[in-house]
Amino acid sequence: MARQVIRATQFAAQAAEFILTIARDALATRGEFRIALSGGNTPRPVYAALAQSELPWENVLVTFGDERCVPPEDEQSNFKMADDTLLAPARVPPRSVLRMRGEIAPPLGAGEYQQQLDTLSAQRGETIYRHDLVLLGIGDDGHTASLFPGTAALHEMQRRVAANYVAKLESWRLTFTFPLILAARNICFLVDSNKPESLIDRIFSGDESLPAARVDRGAERVTWIIGDAR
Ligand code: 6PG
Repeated sequence: MARQVIRATQFAAQAAEFILTIARDALATRGEFRIALSGGNTPRPVYAALAQSELPWENVLVTFGDERCVPPEDEQSNFKMADDTLLAPARVPPRSVLRMRGEIAPPLGAGEYQQQLDTLSAQRGETIYRHDLVLLGIGDDGHTASLFPGTAALHEMQRRVAANYVAKLESWRLTFTFPLILAARNICFLVDSNKPESLIDRIFSGDESLPAARVDRGAERVTWIIGDAR
């Protein structure tokens, strides 16, 4: 595991620049850039900054690391957040976006997404879909994507995408599993200054009761971009 930590005084701009660096390398090397977006609120300013960039979006494939089981127009939808901040402003062509369908029965939504990724990875001669970059956030309980402590999807080592019931939220989520996340060439946690340093310390110390720590430990290459409020 190679971990890089960037303490960012210009969080959104530095995160967007990091993403662009990975994108340029992927486009130059493989002619495409495959990125998984994270949800929640932290990425909003990062996506807005990224929308100002000059990426060849027709050579980018955008996926989602997780999704709430709601329709795409719902304020809770991670797709909606990304569409509002990045996809629409940057005029990303719809064929470059693979949306998780949170509006259908969760097992169907997970199965459909997994099948779509499996088809794309087979076309590339991969045994599992290899993102160039998976963006992730962390919750105060150490969850990442929709891999929450104490939930079934933490134990899923075969499937790439799972429907995961999160009892504390009394709701279903669709989520990448550890195998799919850890297949990525690069993983980047986006953590703004609202997150407690003590949580980051626990993750870096390897407290594997925290799903984010399991990703941090298992990643081939992981970068933490941490907002520095100073
Ligand atoms: C989601 C996310 C989730 C998020 C964290 C942090 O669907 O909520 O994918 O993993 O990254 O909960 O959320 P905030 O950025 O809103 O703090």
